[in-house]
Amino acid sequence: MKRLDGKIAIITGAARGIGFGIAKTYAEEGAQVIIIDLSQDAVDEAVKTLTDASYLATGFAADVTDNAVIEKIFKQIFNEFGKIDILINNAGITRDGLLMKMKEADWDLVMNVNLKGTFICTQKVCRYMMKKRSGAIINIASVIGLMGNAGQANYAASKGGTIAFTKSAAKEFASRNIRVNAIAPGFIETEMTARLSEEVIANYAKAIPLNKMGSIRDVANCCVFLASEDSNYITGQTIQVDGGLIM
Ligand SMILES: NC(=O)c1ccc[n+]([C@@H]2O[C@H](COP(=O)([O-])OP(=O)(O)OC[C@H]3O[C@@H](n4cnc5c(N)ncnc54)[C@H](O)[C@@H]3O)[C@@H](O)[C@H]2O)c1
Repeated sequence: MKRLDGKIAIITGAARGIGFGIAKTYAEEGAQVIIIDLSQDAVDEAVKTLTDASYLATGFAADVTDNAVIEKIFKQIFNEFGKIDILINNAGITRDGLLMKMKEADWDLVMNVNLKGTFICTQKVCRYMMKKRSGAIINIASVIGLMGNAGQANYAASKGGTIAFTKSAAKEFASRNIRVNAIAPGFIETEMTARLSEEVIANYAKAIPLNKMGSIRDVANCCVFLASEDSNYITGQTIQVDGGLIM
């Protein structure tokens, strides 16, 4: 028996990076995964990679900030599968810049995708979870939302907001047996960080007691735990997957 056998899981921003890693790990654990991402081609390719390996996967091209489209897709998913067990709000972006020079458009975009997108998807999914009196929602925040970072005021605010949103949603939904938790990844090996020089990586590693970058699998494993019965008594929490990063 795998840990997510028979579970229906929606993962946003899952065509690549951490989201795809979560989708793959979930599929390996027996879940039917539903990938949501911006480009149809990227969604199709990610779904094909999983179904070619005989996993259960499907997907939709959608922007998490598009309220009407997300409502329609989630309804379609519920009608097809009869339930939605897990939502991972993973879609996220950065538009870095020093506060003094930050463009209002860059503030708005980051807040919209990272925070409002999480609100929209959570609001749409909760009605289906409430019907079944069961569900797990996991929001991918960031250690930057806890510690702040120069040049990332918009991103830090969006991720700090995600953590506060998680605590509130957990309190609202607890009586319906829907658990809401956040994960705050630290420095994770992704395509983005692969471009950094060895020197930069070594400098980051100095602030990490475990002395290395995290892997996508480290984040995905935490997502499995937070959606499985092993975490039945955990809600409203933010788990840092960061190697003990010194803040
Ligand atoms: N990479 C890290 O080290 C790190 C650390 C902490 C937190 N995070 C968080 O983890 C999450 C995933 O990060 P990643 O490194 O895999 O990023 P990534 O850029 O590789 O992947 C993000 C995915 O989200 C999709 N996306 C962007 N905007 C979207 C929208 N409006 N609607 C739907 N999909 C959208 C992108 O197309 C992309 O496929 C993000 O929320 C990020 O903030 C990442």
